[in-house]
Amino acid sequence: MTAANPPINSPVEPRVVVIPASTRSGSVNKALAEMIATEFHRQGEPTRVIDLAEYPMPLYDGDLEARDGVPATAVELARRLTRAEVLVVVSPEYNGTFTPLLKNTVDWLTRVDVSVLAHLFVLVASASPGRGGGANGTAMVRQWMANMGLSVAPGILAVAEATLDDHAQLRGLDRSELAEFVSQAAPLRRAA
Ligand SMILES: Cc1cc2nc3c(=O)[nH]c(=O)nc-3n(C[C@H](O)[C@H](O)[C@H](O)COP(=O)(O)O)c2cc1C
Repeated sequence: MTAANPPINSPVEPRVVVIPASTRSGSVNKALAEMIATEFHRQGEPTRVIDLAEYPMPLYDGDLEARDGVPATAVELARRLTRAEVLVVVSPEYNGTFTPLLKNTVDWLTRVDVSVLAHLFVLVASASPGRGGGANGTAMVRQWMANMGLSVAPGILAVAEATLDDHAQLRGLDRSELAEFVSQAAPLRRAA
């Protein structure tokens, strides 16, 4: 099952935003992001999955920023995030850390507003064909987000030996694992 994204111009923005940090077709992290969003939907929380391919940004460069300003895509993504309360980062592990796509996107976002993410409660997940499931990368994301002053959920979801089935779902991912991961955002949602 795939979570249905609300229309892009919906007047009511979901409080949960899921960002897979891979734009690759056949990405196991995109599949995991969809499965996490579906679980939020099941628990009654409308959720948006953001495809970073729809928000292309050049590699951050101060001279480029001075010349052209911040990309409109960064401004638009920042606007979308201001209305969210929970951010789920689902990043592949590249050489022991998260992807340059994710870092570059966040760097540009903070040039729109340095506190653009400050209000978000962050959950971190990863999927990898490897045996570690990208857990080292999730640790780096958690540390990085904490360094930026964000609140980060203690539990990570790292899906090891990740492969897709014919329905673009991750094989062998137990629904109870998803539910436990997603439930970390529940106290925040109840308080709202
Ligand atoms: C440059 C690069 C570095 C990688 N380093 C790791 C790594 O450190 N640990 C790991 O588990 N997988 C690593 N991989 C394999 C990725 O987990 C695999 O390509 C995965 O499918 C990428 O995520 P995606 O399917 O969501 O695009 C690496 C892949 C690339 C391209």
